[in-house]
Amino acid sequence: MKKLCYAFALIVSAAGLSVTAEAATDALPSILESYEKNAENSYTISYLEEDPYLVNIYEGYGFAKDYESARGHAYVLEDVNGTERPHALANCLTCKTADFTKLVNKMGEDAYSLDFESVYPQMHENVGCYTCHEYQFMKGTPVITHDYTIAAIGDEMGDAIAPAVAVCGQCHTEYYFKPENKATNVPYQDIATMDPAAELAYYDEMGFADWTQESTGTPLLKVQHPEIETFLGEGSVHAPLGLTCADCHMEMKENENGTEYPSHYLVSPLESEVLLETCAACHKDTDMAEKVHAVQEEITAREKEVGQELSDLKDRLAQAAASGEYTEDKLDAIRSLHRTAQWYFDYDYVENSEGAHNSALARKCLDTAEETIQEAMALFES
Ligand code: HEC
Ligand code: HEC
Ligand code: HEC
Ligand code: HEC
Repeated sequence: MKKLCYAFALIVSAAGLSVTAEAATDALPSILESYEKNAENSYTISYLEEDPYLVNIYEGYGFAKDYESARGHAYVLEDVNGTERPHALANCLTCKTADFTKLVNKMGEDAYSLDFESVYPQMHENVGCYTCHEYQFMKGTPVITHDYTIAAIGDEMGDAIAPAVAVCGQCHTEYYFKPENKATNVPYQDIATMDPAAELAYYDEMGFADWTQESTGTPLLKVQHPEIETFLGEGSVHAPLGLTCADCHMEMKENENGTEYPSHYLVSPLESEVLLETCAACHKDTDMAEKVHAVQEEITAREKEVGQELSDLKDRLAQAAASGEYTEDKLDAIRSLHRTAQWYFDYDYVENSEGAHNSALARKCLDTAEETIQEAMALFES
């Protein structure tokens, strides 16, 4: 209980509010307790060890050095500081800590280009109450606090996009840093443009690349966790049925006073009896672990095949570029296909559900990547 009171005092002081005992609703202590459990999800694996071809396809970029799978929200600050990927600017803190969001909301986009090392020591909270509720966490009203999400979909929250999807999508999304001021931004304007083809077109049009790979000369993109796009996008079966991220990742529980509250320990539905019961409303007596794993095994197996083909294309292109036997025009045509193929491969690979959120889209991305690789390979011979 002491720990809880301490956490509660921290939140209240972080919010700059003075909260009376009466105002603290009965559910809050249980919510806090569940929120602290995010530290229990500490399991992580190295993607680079699991899929060694990644080191080759990400060559020249930070993810070729260090790429761990995600773990609980309690670890975000520790993990961003510990990664071996370079992080020169404070914009890396965008999706890690409520303290940085508050800073952006106070000083505007200039906060993104501050020096990482000078800002990091001022960051104390991980993903916090402010992140998803601003200062309305006593009531629990979901509020979008990230400026680029407000700009892209703020108007649609509550109408087209359920609040318990929108707040998660502030971070569980593809993003980039604007070239002119390094501010974090998303490559879409509404649900219709939350789509791999539309996002690639957006980057192509602005001539954006995360890095230009030295050996191949290809201006490449690195996709990051497009969960909101995958969940809301074409092929998703659950979004049109009105389910939200919270429905499958936050248990509804009852505390000792009989008050119902949403657990803030974000878990896989397969780890929770309570959540599995909610699946049963539609899936009846289907073994959900089996159903989810079947999708994931199919998608992961395909991913390994296509990832290896992409790695082969990269080697072939690097050789061709070094050989001097191809015209720059020909190489550029192949580079353009290489960029497209890698985009679609990555769009699937980095999505955290491994196909479970939307297997149709995962298949489409992998098929498109593979067709594009074949097209590129054929150009070497033509
Ligand atoms: C402020 C950004 C942010 C918001 C908002 C956010 N997340 Fe996260 N989430 C992250 C980051 C970053 C990680 C990875 C943490 C790590 O590995 O250190 C993560 C990890 C997770 C994980 C664990 C993944 C794993 O493989 O173990 C789950 C589940 C999750 N988030 C679900 C959600 C849900 C559901 C919501 C909305 C209710 C949400 N998140 C909102 C940033 C956010
Ligand atoms: C990652 C996003 C996220 C964070 C962080 C978060 N919440 Fe929530 N919270 C939600 C969502 C989503 C809901 C609504 C759940 C639903 O509708 O099923 C919610 C609901 C609530 C509610 C309403 C409960 C009810 O019975 O209606 C309260 C109160 C609340 N949160 C308090 C907090 C407090 C306090 C913190 C910090 C310890 C916090 N939240 C952190 C996403 C978040
Ligand atoms: C219909 C249920 C459902 C909905 C709705 C849903 N998810 Fe998931 N999610 C899953 C399943 C199933 C998995 C795979 C779990 C596993 O591998 O154990 C998963 C995995 C994840 C993971 C990886 C975490 C882990 O433990 O493997 C994250 C992060 C995540 N979802 C975030 C989200 C976000 C953000 C949203 C909303 C945009 C969302 N989910 C909506 C069912 C759902
Ligand atoms: C409101 C009804 C509903 C609920 C609740 C629901 N589902 Fe579904 N789900 C469906 C329908 C309909 C389909 C499509 C037919 C099928 O595959 O069974 C589906 C498909 C799926 C798929 C395959 C998705 C794909 O893209 O291949 C997975 C995985 C899944 N559900 C997991 C879950 C999990 C886990 C839960 C509970 C946390 C859940 N569902 C809750 C209705 C629901």
